[in-house]
Amino acid sequence: MIIQVEKLSYEYSPNSVFAYHALKDVTTSVREGSFTAIVGATGSGKSTLVQHFNALITPTGGSLTVDGKLIVANQKVKELKPLRKKVGLVFQFPEYQLFEETILKDVMFGPLNFGVTVDDARAIAQESLIRVGLDSTFYERSPLELSGGQKRRVAIAGILALSPKILVLDEPTAGLDPEGSASMMSLFQNLNASGTTIIMITHDLNHVLNYATDVIMLDQGVVVFEGSKETFFNETDLHEDYGLVKPPLLELRSLLKEAKISFNAHTLDINILAQSIKEGKHD
Ligand SMILES: Nc1ncnc2c1ncn2[C@@H]1O[C@H](COP(=O)(O)OP(=O)(O)OP(=O)(O)O)[C@@H](O)[C@H]1O
Ligand SMILES: [Mg+2]
Repeated sequence: MIIQVEKLSYEYSPNSVFAYHALKDVTTSVREGSFTAIVGATGSGKSTLVQHFNALITPTGGSLTVDGKLIVANQKVKELKPLRKKVGLVFQFPEYQLFEETILKDVMFGPLNFGVTVDDARAIAQESLIRVGLDSTFYERSPLELSGGQKRRVAIAGILALSPKILVLDEPTAGLDPEGSASMMSLFQNLNASGTTIIMITHDLNHVLNYATDVIMLDQGVVVFEGSKETFFNETDLHEDYGLVKPPLLELRSLLKEAKISFNAHTLDINILAQSIKEGKHD
């Protein structure tokens, strides 16, 4: 396991009237090389959980191990820099992540901070911006004058520029149009195929269905599911119980069942599903 979380609790503003237990005794893990989706209702603790993965916040109870580095409640984390390089976290709200005068400088910041030369940092930044679909006309613009979707792309480029071993994305396609969202998802899929562990928070179960390998589901600060995507969709009704929108493929499977049409009832692949209908195939 590349990340192992042990009885982790997190309380905001402890010992004050605002004290709030956002995570309670969470034990879960992330497999190396997986594409792990983290789902759950708003306020369930998803963003709070992933902010532990690069020690942006540290547990108020329990511990976690991230690629061999142990982080224990109420103990200062030593040598943060290697962890920050290894675990790239793209925030839910990208404006928190952008602070330089120009987009190119913003994306160069990370590599420069990790000791890369200016020329190399520029080359890395340009390549990262191309990967997220921003061409040279953006280089000298201010991040402040961008749309929400463009800001998100710059924030993602800034993290890609560090070539993290673990890429953590907090609702990375929010604010993107369907085409932008699809191209961003295929970028993450390619990174995953070349070995990057991807952890993605999303409200879009269709993305979970199409891209994830593993699922962690939170509800009110506790883990209510962890396992494979197949188990999540085929053996639980959790996506319905918690009011998430059903992906079209599952909707189709329900309709086919009602209509008593034979098909491969376990596949989550639309092409295999279509082929099985053609062949009148039972499970
Ligand atoms: N800075 C904070 N101070 C106090 N409480 C907070 C703070 N940030 C978050 N919380 C509370 O902690 C709980 C978990 O928040 P978190 O942001 O982790 O949820 P989430 O699952 O990411 O939600 P969303 O889907 O809306 O992004 C929420 O009830 C939230 O109100
Ligand atoms: Mg969140």
